[in-house]
Amino acid sequence: MSAPGRPKRETPPWGDGAQRQGGAMSAPEPVLEIRDLSLEFPVFGGAVRALGGVSLRVMPGEIVGVVGESGSGKSVTAMAALRLLPPGGYRVTGGGLRLCGEDVLAASEARMRQWRGRRAAMIFQEPMTALNPTRRIGDQLTGVLRAHHRLGRREALERAGALLRDMMIPDPVRTLRAYPFELSGGMRQRVMAAMAFSCDPALLIADEPTTALDVTVQRQVLQLLRHRARERGTAILFITHDMAVVSQFCDWVYVMYAGTVVEQGPTGRVLDAPRHPYTRGLLDGLPERAAPGADLAAIPGRVPDMRRPPQGCVFFDRCAFADEACRRRPELRSLADGESGAGTGAAPPSAPEIGLGIVSERRVACWHPLAVEPAGRAGEEA
Ligand SMILES: Nc1ncnc2c1ncn2[C@@H]1O[C@H](COP(=O)(O)OP(=O)(O)O)[C@@H](O)[C@H]1O
Ligand code: SF4
Ligand SMILES: [Mg+2]
Repeated sequence: MSAPGRPKRETPPWGDGAQRQGGAMSAPEPVLEIRDLSLEFPVFGGAVRALGGVSLRVMPGEIVGVVGESGSGKSVTAMAALRLLPPGGYRVTGGGLRLCGEDVLAASEARMRQWRGRRAAMIFQEPMTALNPTRRIGDQLTGVLRAHHRLGRREALERAGALLRDMMIPDPVRTLRAYPFELSGGMRQRVMAAMAFSCDPALLIADEPTTALDVTVQRQVLQLLRHRARERGTAILFITHDMAVVSQFCDWVYVMYAGTVVEQGPTGRVLDAPRHPYTRGLLDGLPERAAPGADLAAIPGRVPDMRRPPQGCVFFDRCAFADEACRRRPELRSLADGESGAGTGAAPPSAPEIGLGIVSERRVACWHPLAVEPAGRAGEEA
């Protein structure tokens, strides 16, 4: 991996960790801490600037969602966390990331191999890409267990059966003998999850794990993941394009757009009262928020071409509230719940308003954050 921009070593910019954990000095170490990460892919005639200063943190046992349209940088963020992007195919141009307190960018490849699976395991949208189609499930699962736990064959097989049972796979013995193609999509995803949990990782990174499944199976797999994670104290970084899934599943959410975080906060608060016009656009597109018989609201326009990322607000071209002020890039800043602005003509704040007295856990990158109102109604007065 090349890292021309040396990772910065100053203290994290967010500084609200103790609050999120509810204690001043007792905040435990994050399992994943991404700080101001900028990353690009060199392409013919330039570079795709996939991440432009992403900061994100996952605390032990927490389920953290990353949501945004396709192309917003969610998978790149997830892959970067485990350094799974194609070696030599990308450049880190700023910031850094830590897994269980240790620097991912500085770690040797041997170290990364140890950390993958043990510190953080990953499950993907299509388990067939991760499972070996030519080997039985049992061989694959016991292979992982034996590699990480020094188990004998028999012991590994017993453990593998127990892991499958934990994932509510009805006939573990038969499943262990099966090849991946013999299983349904939902069962394959359960096998992947069993494999991911097999090394008791501190963090599970799940990149659209249920997108390919039908709604009922999706709900079952999500409930199971959540249940097992809670039971074991495993944190989850959950990548999805679906706000409905975030609402069912995540404690905390980061909304990503064009390689940046535009809004973050506890899921309930972000979904009940989105402050960024993009977040509200995503929520307005949910079927359950549409009036009966009405078309789903789609955000007009498309995500920017990241070979030429916007200079000002990343959402400028698609935002109904854009004005001259928005030609400057807004910082992701803490926001007091009462603070409003969208469509009200409020002047953009001149400086980050952290420390105005009411320090919020919510952060928003917008010069004119939406007023606090239930989603679907905010901005009507504008
Ligand atoms: N290997 C790559 N080479 C060039 N561009 C890439 C590569 N991987 C991802 N990108 C680009 O990075 C941006 C973010 O992609 P990604 O993280 O996959 O989006 P998401 O997961 O949110 O749909 C997109 O513009 C995508 O085209
Ligand atoms: S900064 Fe301006 S363009 Fe960007 S989301 Fe806010 S109102 Fe819209
Ligand atoms: Mg993706």
